[in-house]
Amino acid sequence: MRTKIIEMETIEEQIRECRRCELWKTRTNPVVGEGTLTAKVMFIGEAPGYYEDLKGRPFVGKAGKMLDELLRLAGLERSEVYIANVLKCRPPGNRNPKVAEIKACTPFLDAQMEIIEPAVIATLGNFSLGYIFDKFYIKKDKIGKIHGKVFTVSTVPGIKKIVPLYHPAVATYNPGMKEVLVDDFKVLAKCCL
Ligand code: URA
Repeated sequence: MRTKIIEMETIEEQIRECRRCELWKTRTNPVVGEGTLTAKVMFIGEAPGYYEDLKGRPFVGKAGKMLDELLRLAGLERSEVYIANVLKCRPPGNRNPKVAEIKACTPFLDAQMEIIEPAVIATLGNFSLGYIFDKFYIKKDKIGKIHGKVFTVSTVPGIKKIVPLYHPAVATYNPGMKEVLVDDFKVLAKCCL
């Protein structure tokens, strides 16, 4: 555990000093990620939004409140998971991440996954799905077709399960989607047993 803490602190420092893309110029705080370094499940979102940028913490705005509720309904505690994003700095006006930004930033996410070695990765939204499915050579499909399905991949540290989920923000502007997310989070929770 001590080694994991030291390794994550090193990544945090690197992220604070990062100038690999332009986003450091407009962000207030980078959002490294948070949670336990021994988490069985790692959630990967898209990028910090307005409140995340202000606080330097992932999923603390409206989508974060929804994520907290979905975790609770699935019987998971925020303190037992790890939450990170594809991008560590907020894109101005919450625009979509650019390809070059994803390329520049994801070595940090890769390093975080290597430290945590989660047995389960839950992708939140399309950018996370795209990155993780490509990384693990899983054939991509529309989220409407594959949400809540469990994909199993073999990696050097061992078997991993990948569960693509809709982004929790979807349920904040389309309340009908909440039920879908609740069901999918329950599938995810079963993977963590
Ligand atoms: N949306 C994300 O994808 N990540 C956050 O941290 C907050 C909102």
